[in-house]
Amino acid sequence: MDYSAMIQNRKSVRAFQDKEVPGSALAEIKEYFLNNCKKLIPSIDTQVRIFGSDVKDALEGAAGYEQLMIGAPCYLLLFSEYAEYTAENAGFIAEDLILKLTEMDLNSCWLTFGDEDQVKKALDLNTPLHLQAIIAFGYGKKTSKLIRLNIKSMSKIDAEVKREYYSPKLGINDLVFAEKWGRKDGVDDLIGDMESMLWRAFYAASLSPSFLNRQPYGFVLHGTRVTLVRKKDVYTDEVSAKLDLGIVMLHFAGVVSQSAGRLTWNMGAPDTDLGLPDDCTAVAWCKL
Ligand SMILES: Cc1cc2nc3c(=O)[nH]c(=O)nc-3n(C[C@H](O)[C@H](O)[C@H](O)COP(=O)(O)O)c2cc1C
Repeated sequence: MDYSAMIQNRKSVRAFQDKEVPGSALAEIKEYFLNNCKKLIPSIDTQVRIFGSDVKDALEGAAGYEQLMIGAPCYLLLFSEYAEYTAENAGFIAEDLILKLTEMDLNSCWLTFGDEDQVKKALDLNTPLHLQAIIAFGYGKKTSKLIRLNIKSMSKIDAEVKREYYSPKLGINDLVFAEKWGRKDGVDDLIGDMESMLWRAFYAASLSPSFLNRQPYGFVLHGTRVTLVRKKDVYTDEVSAKLDLGIVMLHFAGVVSQSAGRLTWNMGAPDTDLGLPDDCTAVAWCKL
């Protein structure tokens, strides 16, 4: 997959055409999940189920920001066993599936949910695995006017029809630091220009979808290593924070692996003092 291109093409779409997604496309997604999908922790058992638009009513009140359920032709649900890094792994996998959907010209949107049991009951599911992610997908409405979210805070989210635009995101300069957290001097020299793999990988990371678009993380580039740091965020709950981390790790790894082969994220903190403040934690590191 051309990760750089798919990451730039992707955006959350919340209004869909009334057009069926062919069975062959659904089979292709399932096949990709089983045989090609990138996994952060491959030993964790995961499962994908795809449902049609008929489950929208059942999910009403159980999924979406403030229970604002998005109507879509299809819903992809990712289940996982509980293990260390379940949610980070789920974010990584579900985002890889979203980029696969993007490659297939399908649009999508992450959907948050509160109570797993409520969703399982509504859909009459009795898998022993645990629901980790819901993705609404289908063919997005081809109009310049789309539903956009005006996220002021978790308790103030307006959905209104406005001219389409991309959610503003943190730039590389606010996301990446050199040697110590907060140090911007020298970042440009270390990353290089738009032609460099590292620049493209951090750019891809900056375009990651995140819960309420909060992007509660950053990176420290130290020596030949990159460490992902989680920033505490009052609006982001624990599970969403971990899904966000998995997503941003996938974006970074996807682009690096395009030109430098497989990139492995080592979970946990590196053995280096990164000068992290109290509200920041090193989550994972990789060697370039
Ligand atoms: C874990 C997670 C949960 C999300 N839940 C919802 C949701 O319930 N409803 C919604 O409209 N968007 C949801 N989103 C989408 C984000 O709001 C979106 O990614 C963000 O605003 C950035 O916009 P973009 O995806 O177009 O780049 C979620 C995203 C993530 C990562």
